[in-house]
Amino acid sequence: MHNGTSLTQFIIEEQRHIEGATGDFTSLLNDVVTACKVISNMVNQGDLIGVLGSAGSENVQGETQKKLDILTNDVFIRSNEWAGHLAAMASEEMEEIYPIPDGKPRGKYLLTFDPLDGSSNTDVNVSVGTIFSILKTNEEGDTPSEKAFLQPGTEQVAAGYALYGPSTMMVLTTGKGVNGFTLDQNIGEFMLTHPNMSIPEDTREFAINSSNQRHWEAPVQRYVDEALAGKTGTRGEDFNMRWIASMVAEVHRILIRGGVFLYPMDEKMRANEATGKLRLLYEANPMSMIIEQAGGVSSTGRERIMELQPERLHQRVPVILGSKNEVERIIGYHNED
Ligand code: AHG
Ligand code: MN
Ligand code: MN
Repeated sequence: MHNGTSLTQFIIEEQRHIEGATGDFTSLLNDVVTACKVISNMVNQGDLIGVLGSAGSENVQGETQKKLDILTNDVFIRSNEWAGHLAAMASEEMEEIYPIPDGKPRGKYLLTFDPLDGSSNTDVNVSVGTIFSILKTNEEGDTPSEKAFLQPGTEQVAAGYALYGPSTMMVLTTGKGVNGFTLDQNIGEFMLTHPNMSIPEDTREFAINSSNQRHWEAPVQRYVDEALAGKTGTRGEDFNMRWIASMVAEVHRILIRGGVFLYPMDEKMRANEATGKLRLLYEANPMSMIIEQAGGVSSTGRERIMELQPERLHQRVPVILGSKNEVERIIGYHNED
């Protein structure tokens, strides 16, 4: 018997504190949550339902799509297109925006998502997730355009992720702190298990794909060198390192026990005229909002991510986020550079 707070109850109770709330937003969040439950079930069933492996196609970013990238994208579209809350959606897996089709009611919100983050991990049964961000459209008229999505992260109304790990969890912010919910598979409800999540300010744990080390720029090189030098180096302490290759899982670890996550700018990207690895609108911005709401810091190394003015739907950015004091140290190294 559960006496706890369900996610549905939590968001309805939050809505009561918002003057003039119509229930539209609450209802939209419920549809997003439902989509994540469907994806959780799909990921969990894996090869039993034949969803693992490559789809043999490429997305707009030139990445090979997994079957699950396509299936989960479809789940998000179908779950969120019918209720009348959205004007349009945008996803990692779709080159263009997806306006709510004619014949279905259009609303005032925009939804961006990475339906399956860390999808290289699906075939090896390692944690993956879904990331989403909700904006309000600033466009008049009936036909939503890509331009409506190009708002800085500070304009996000809500952001969240679902983590499909040993437990399925949903972590959510509407700009008043961060709360975590665990899916009770027996009753099909997310229950509040992690109220008011807060990131420790200090950490001795970092996450970076060190196979890129030879390409790193000086400030990142310096930071990692100092950490690896441990007790005998300038930091005077030993550090620990993790790399899951699923941003959702890394951010979740940081929310629970602190840490820093880096997917920085590097020389190889610069040579290829790339602006980073992770995508601003549906990876970096929602994660930055969650991190900041939990007391952490999120930066490109030189600028606050949430203040960047997006120029393109699939724009990439360098990402350095996590425990406040450690990320500020790395920003300091960039400023000195
Ligand atoms: P996606 O599966 O949505 O394309 O995202 C994967 C991202 C991110 O989650 C992870 O941190 C990073 O790419 C992994 O990059 P490497 O393959 O370079 O380790
Ligand atoms: Mn991703
Ligand atoms: Mn993805």
